[in-house]
Amino acid sequence: MHLRRQIAPLIALLLLVSQADLLSAQEQASTHETKLANVVILATGGTIAGAGASAASSATYQAAKVPVDKLIAGVPELKDIAQVRGEQVFQIASESFTNDHLLQLGKRVATLAKQDDVDGLVITHGTDTLEETAYFLNLVVHTEKPIVVVGSMRPGTAMSADGMLNLYNAVVVAGSATSRGKGALVVMNDEIHSGRDVAKSINIRTEAFNSQWGALGMVVEGKTFWFRTLAKRHTTQSEFDIERIDKLAPVEIAYGYGNMTDAAHTHFAAKGAAALIHAGTGNGSVAAGVVPALVELRKQGVHIIRSSRVNGGGFVIRNAEQPDDKYDWIVAHDLNPQKARILAAVALTATSDSKELQRIFWEY
Ligand code: DGL
Repeated sequence: MHLRRQIAPLIALLLLVSQADLLSAQEQASTHETKLANVVILATGGTIAGAGASAASSATYQAAKVPVDKLIAGVPELKDIAQVRGEQVFQIASESFTNDHLLQLGKRVATLAKQDDVDGLVITHGTDTLEETAYFLNLVVHTEKPIVVVGSMRPGTAMSADGMLNLYNAVVVAGSATSRGKGALVVMNDEIHSGRDVAKSINIRTEAFNSQWGALGMVVEGKTFWFRTLAKRHTTQSEFDIERIDKLAPVEIAYGYGNMTDAAHTHFAAKGAAALIHAGTGNGSVAAGVVPALVELRKQGVHIIRSSRVNGGGFVIRNAEQPDDKYDWIVAHDLNPQKARILAAVALTATSDSKELQRIFWEY
C-alpha cells in the first residue's frame, strides 16, 4: 500500500505525458489530414472546357464552353488533394489570346500569389497558345509558389478525354511544396514541363507537348517526381515584373520559306512593330533577297530577331548564317518564334538597346 502511494504521482505523471503525446499526435494527424494545400484554379477556356456532339467526337467540338465550377465538379477527387476554388478569368479559345489577356491574367496570378491563403495556382487554358502564356508568366510573376498551366487535347465529352487527369495532376503539382521555385510549369499527359521550354509539337495527340531539353519531371498517382530544373532566369529571378508592366511592345513574326519576299516584314514595320521575329529556315536563315529590307528596317529602329521555323530542335547561332554583329541583329537562342515574340514583347518594355536585348535572350 505504502509503495502504491509513493508511485501514484509518477503513474499520474506518465498518464498525463502519454495523453499529451497522444493528443499532439492526434492534433498532428488531424492537422496533417486537414492541412491540404489551398489551390486556386483560374479558367480561361480552351478544349479542357470544350464540349463535343458525341463521345466519339474527340477532335470536333466547341472549345471554351464549360465553366470553372463544372470543371472542378467533374473531378471530385480534387477535394482529397487540395482545398480548391475557381475563378473564371476568360472563356475563350486560346488562339484568340491577346497581349491584353496576358496582362490581365498575369496581374491576377501575381495578386493571388501574394495571398497567404493561396499555396499554388492552376490556369486552365487552350493548348494552341498555352506555351506562350506559360512562358509569359514564367517571365513576369514574382513568386516561388507553383504556377501550373494545364489544358487538354480532347473535350471532356469524348471517350478517353485527357482533361480530368490533366487537371487532377495540375492541382497535385500546384499543391506540392516540391514544385516551389521551379518557375511556371505546364502539366500535360503526366509530364511536368517548364513553361519556358515546352511547346505544342503535335496537334492531334494527347502527348502533344514536348520540351527539346526534356520534361522537368512527372506526376503519377498524386505524387511529383523531379529530374531536372530550369537553367534560365524566371519568376523571382526575373528583372521583369508584371506589376510594372501595363503594355507589351508590338512584336510580329514573319515566317521564312522558299520564294519569300520582304513584304511581311515591311508591312509589320509599317504597322508599328518594334521588333520582328524572323522565323527563318534552318539556323534562322534570311533569304538573300530579304536581307536588304531587314538591314534598312534595323537602321529605322526596328529590331530584327532571328529564330528558327525548325520545330523543337536546336538553337540559332549568332554570326553563323548571318553577320548579326554587322547588321545589329539579335538571335533568339533556342526559343521558337512564338516564344521569342513573348520575350521580345516583355523585354522591350525595359530596354531597346540591342546588346541588352541579346543578353536577355541568352539569360531567359
Ligand atoms: N481552340 C484551341 C484552343 O483553345 C483548342 C485546342 C485545345 O485547347 O486543346 O487552344
